[in-house]
Amino acid sequence: MASTLSAEDFDREPINYSKATPANSVTELQSKLDTGKIKLGYHPERGYLDSLLEALSVSPKSQSLVYSKTSLQIARIRPRTPRAIYFNDDLYVGYCQLGDVMEFSVADPKLGTVFYTIDQRETEQPQFVRQTDNCLICHASSRTDNIPGHVIRSLFVNAGGQPMFSAGSYIIDHSTEWEKRWGGWYVTGKHGEAQHLGNLIVRSRDVPRPVENSAGQNVTDLTTFFRPEHYLSPHSDLVALTVLAHQAKGHNLITRANFSTRQALHYQENLNNELGEKPGLAWESTTRRIASASEDLLEYLLCSGEAPLPAPITGTSGYAEEFSQRGPKDKQARSLYQLDLQTRLLKYPCSYLIYTDSFRQLPTNMLTRLGRRMNEVLTNQDKAETWQHLSAEDRQHIHSILLATKDHLPEVFMAQFDLAEVSEND
Ligand code: HEC
Repeated sequence: MASTLSAEDFDREPINYSKATPANSVTELQSKLDTGKIKLGYHPERGYLDSLLEALSVSPKSQSLVYSKTSLQIARIRPRTPRAIYFNDDLYVGYCQLGDVMEFSVADPKLGTVFYTIDQRETEQPQFVRQTDNCLICHASSRTDNIPGHVIRSLFVNAGGQPMFSAGSYIIDHSTEWEKRWGGWYVTGKHGEAQHLGNLIVRSRDVPRPVENSAGQNVTDLTTFFRPEHYLSPHSDLVALTVLAHQAKGHNLITRANFSTRQALHYQENLNNELGEKPGLAWESTTRRIASASEDLLEYLLCSGEAPLPAPITGTSGYAEEFSQRGPKDKQARSLYQLDLQTRLLKYPCSYLIYTDSFRQLPTNMLTRLGRRMNEVLTNQDKAETWQHLSAEDRQHIHSILLATKDHLPEVFMAQFDLAEVSEND
């Protein structure tokens, strides 16, 4: 037996990524389609797109447009025909004009990110087809820390949509500096002076340095770039893009926390078995592995390392307004879905991803540790530099919101919280 497990082992026990049966929002919809509970409508141009977004509760306002040939259907993607991505808290949809298929990546509480396609031709019985090979070439690589996950990239793109790899590329998550974001993506919205790489199409052989992209800033109308009537909306909303950057990496870290814990425990049981020890005997290496994955996830969920917004930002599609209405909310109508958009993404910097099934179904050992550590941070017992971005008020607000919405959170997680902290004015 190898002395350590590496992430690529997700196709073996205990994860069995390819062979295990998924259970997620796509499989749920498929069974409703199979039993005739839901029928999909077919649009002459966009095929099943409109109908699927509705059936899967994905808002068209989340539309984010990418024109780099960096994904599956490269022949369909270029600046005049960008690929559209739509998403909600646990599902992402990729749509290309005249695409053969629509692409889906979905958070599966047991299997991390699971991939599907659906044929864009009209049929009696639309079928999601699970993909365990093709997609993983890009979606389970060093860019995703070798687990099946999401990739959001920023790079320089020419007029044909070809990425200019020699000029460099960046992974986008909430820690990515503004000036590195959105290369190859359309961006609609206002954000003051600071320049990003969105809306930039490089017309010279090399990328001019310093990069000149003043025309790409504070754009609210994309009609000079492509014909928006072929899409659900004319927007590629800046706030939607900022949420996308936050949550794609967040999902990857939840998957990592899930896999690491189960793999570590599985390894420990094998070891105990081989050495004739009692089942359940805990090894320090197991604890260390769980602690490390849990700390990475905790830092991300509490937005440690988030790059500050250079100026207040606004979008164009109404995504921000729709998103911030959501919740569970506390009595004062506070929720983790409220947005700041002045200096940071979230008004209360604790990710709403903790309400997703993927988080709620993390293994008990992971949730227990996460709950204990989150409580330590929020009650000021942990004063480390990592949490300096959280003011005393931030910590208090988040702590109160979590307690008030505890019915939406896992019991083992909340059991670690200091209830004494509930203040009278909540
Ligand atoms: C050649 C590499 C590549 C392959 C193969 C690939 N993708 Fe992607 N995918 C990307 C990149 C890069 C992005 C980020 C957006 C972009 O650049 O278009 C992405 C984004 C996505 C997204 C949006 C959010 C995310 O990152 O999960 C979905 C959904 C998606 N891909 C589904 C699929 C499915 C389904 C397959 C297989 C049928 C697949 N992809 C195959 C590279 C790839």
